Amino acid sequence: MKLLLVEDEKITRITLANTLADEGYRVVSCETGIEGLEKIKSEKFDIIVTDLRLPKIGGLELLKEAANLQPECKVIVMTAYASVETAVEALKLGAYDYLIKPFSPDKLLTTLNHIRKFKKVQDENVHLKRRLEHFENRTIIGASRPMLKLLETVRAVAGNDYTVLVQGESGTGKELVARALHSFGKRANGAFVPVNCSAIPEGLLESELFGHEKGAFTGAHKTHVGFFERADGGTIFLDDIDDFPIPLQVKLLRVLQEKEITRVGGGKPIKLNVRVIVATKVDLKKLAEENKFREDLYYRLNIIPIQLPPLRERKEDIPLLAEHFFIKRNAKEKISLLNADLLESMKKYDWPGNVRELENFVERIIALSDIPGWEKELTGYLSLNRAKKFPDEGENVYPSYEEFITQKELEIFEWAMRKTKGNITKAAALLGLPRTTLRSKLEKLGVSWNSSGIK
Ligand SMILES: Nc1ncnc2c1ncn2[C@@H]1O[C@H](COP(=O)(O)OP(=O)(O)OP(=O)(O)O)[C@@H](O)[C@H]1O
Ligand SMILES: [Mg+2]
Repeated sequence: MKLLLVEDEKITRITLANTLADEGYRVVSCETGIEGLEKIKSEKFDIIVTDLRLPKIGGLELLKEAANLQPECKVIVMTAYASVETAVEALKLGAYDYLIKPFSPDKLLTTLNHIRKFKKVQDENVHLKRRLEHFENRTIIGASRPMLKLLETVRAVAGNDYTVLVQGESGTGKELVARALHSFGKRANGAFVPVNCSAIPEGLLESELFGHEKGAFTGAHKTHVGFFERADGGTIFLDDIDDFPIPLQVKLLRVLQEKEITRVGGGKPIKLNVRVIVATKVDLKKLAEENKFREDLYYRLNIIPIQLPPLRERKEDIPLLAEHFFIKRNAKEKISLLNADLLESMKKYDWPGNVRELENFVERIIALSDIPGWEKELTGYLSLNRAKKFPDEGENVYPSYEEFITQKELEIFEWAMRKTKGNITKAAALLGLPRTTLRSKLEKLGVSWNSSGIK
């Protein structure tokens, strides 16, 4: 630690400087405030120990300069009189502590030890905060060709204000990309406001997005600031845009064109400076062609399209991503669990839930790794690879009995769920199974379902 000592009394200065040097501090000593000030302006210190009463430039002035030029630096003031007022003033100005002369060098050393500890915690905090930011904020991992291309696009378009349409299957990183676009761009200091369009009831969406005035409708007791206004100066992220109700689509189009919103029940349009990023899991163009999405809005949104490839098309990213998730979960020491066999099975698997599924899988490894037989459990999970086809005639690899049964089970469940549009009661009836049995079997197989069947 580098320390600046400013003291006009020769004996005190020399004694303190020697004690501190013996303790391993790198000490720069000065006799006057003027000299001290020059040092503060030209060199960086961790700690300043200064007398309060110095000719011309006093300790308080040094303190002010230090707070200004080196805010990280801690200042201890020494005063010859028990003039508590000046000492208190020093504390108010940001001094770490004060010592009343005469004091033993040990007293100073104790105070310095406190600073050391304080700094250590502070450094750790900074480190943790950076780490958190690094992870939350949007590190997009990937070295495969499609991901490198994607990163290039992200970098290129982060700086402008065009609307971006992010498309990709569930769990491919659409929101991550949206956040990256926001934080690599010039709006990084503004808000990033995510809105899940499919989670908000249709009747509420307009007032949630654009806000409403007091009394706009029954129940509107006070003015409500909508998501768009909250994103002013920043970015709004409209997720699942395909779910945007058709009657509202024309309003959204107008907002995008005019760059202003009108609150529900409010007369005056409000000018806004918001970047719009939208995401969808479905083929929006096809939806527009089928008249299920306004074509004009589609073209307005599709200014910069970004397509996220599914994980099965970039399997070379799997080891990199898996390592990243170990570190993210603070389990760096467990990365070695990713042995060649496990990685091989991971690469064979098709990851229908994409990167999110891989992230959950890593969490599973971390959680299970202390239990004997964990590898079997995990490879069991991976062998439920629904996309995997049975071997062709003539090939010498056959599935195990378990795998075969599982595949067949899945096939029949898929059929029943598709036929009943994901209605589990009807599907169970079709199969002659109790509903609860079908549900628990599906859950055991780790599949989810919606109105188009099993996902
Ligand atoms: N390339 C990547 N590098 C690091 N982490 C990733 C990457 N892609 C996705 N993730 C992580 O996977 C998880 C899912 O990503 P995200 O929420 O962005 O997916 P999504 O496409 O928005 O999914 P959904 O369609 O289900 O909303 C997140 O925790 C995200 O941080
Ligand atoms: Mg998402």
